[in-house]
Amino acid sequence: MSAAAPSDDAPHIPVLIAPLIEAASPVSGTWLDGTLGAGGYARALLAAGAGKVIGVDRDPAALEMAAEWAAPFGDRVELVEGVFSRLDDYAQGLDGIVLDLGVSSMQLDQAQRGFSFMRDGPLDMRMSQNGPTAADLVNTADEGALADILYLYGEERASRRIARAIVKKRAEVPIVSTLQLAEIVEKCLPRSKPGQAHPATRSFQAIRIAVNDEYGELIGGLEAAERALKPGGILAVVTFHSIEDRMVKRFLQDRSDGGGGGSRHAPAEAAQPRQFTLKSRKAITADEAELAANPRSRSAKLRVAVRTAEAPGVTDRKALGMPLLKGDR
Ligand SMILES: C[S@@+](CC[C@H](N)C(=O)[O-])C[C@H]1O[C@@H](n2cnc3c(N)ncnc32)[C@H](O)[C@@H]1O
Repeated sequence: MSAAAPSDDAPHIPVLIAPLIEAASPVSGTWLDGTLGAGGYARALLAAGAGKVIGVDRDPAALEMAAEWAAPFGDRVELVEGVFSRLDDYAQGLDGIVLDLGVSSMQLDQAQRGFSFMRDGPLDMRMSQNGPTAADLVNTADEGALADILYLYGEERASRRIARAIVKKRAEVPIVSTLQLAEIVEKCLPRSKPGQAHPATRSFQAIRIAVNDEYGELIGGLEAAERALKPGGILAVVTFHSIEDRMVKRFLQDRSDGGGGGSRHAPAEAAQPRQFTLKSRKAITADEAELAANPRSRSAKLRVAVRTAEAPGVTDRKALGMPLLKGDR
């Protein structure tokens, strides 16, 4: 999700849950929720007929929270602390997999997690609460690498100016808090007009994506889902910004007949194996009622596909539109 204005202890409202359940119906068997969060999707899947849900999250706080709500479900809910790029290590032969990308409202709203440019907190941004922090990245990466992250991961056009300002500031004093970083970014950009996003939105998004390797995780998650679903199993992915959506769209097109396959003038080579069939070519978006009730649904896109029996395919990260930093292959 994008960094919306936080509000105190706002619960995480799941997005696109009704169309997801409709696209997955009839829901049955064992599902894996690779982004458990507050468990909104997991509970909806259980209510819709899933026999069991394996709930995966890299954030120990999500699992702590789940231990409470999941208790009444007994062994219908299994909790795993881990990353969705390894979901095929946690389960095989699944009837369905959901991924609802990004951070939860709980993560965003807690100042000490360091995701929000609206609240002062340590510059952390780690979903898993371990490994290098955003402060480590911002204080050590060289200027060119920072500019690339801001530009390629956040589509920030002032990336070079911001990277230069960061490097200048950190030579005076370490950058350790969210508001400190927000202020550096703000000074590099024109003031936002009413209704426009906060100037630090794109930079915070880019740094968060880098700290959590979100694009690497996404490709790894799609590939792991392809390995873990049984034929007929459903993959549903909700994205919140254009780069993520492009990666999911191209992955599913490439692995389905949505990938083209030639025309009268350029006939297809021998029919390629197809690992998925698309539920619909277009992404599903929020309707008026959901948009009114949950502003976070504005940028959400849901894509749903059904696994075939074909062996897993081979992924070309560049062709999927994954932004590649120097050193990435
Ligand atoms: C948008 S929230 C999901 C909300 C959930 N659908 C709900 O209804 O409450 C995303 C969650 O996925 C987790 N997450 C993000 N990337 C992950 C990854 N690669 N592996 C495992 N969990 C991840 C985050 O920690 C966060 O809790």
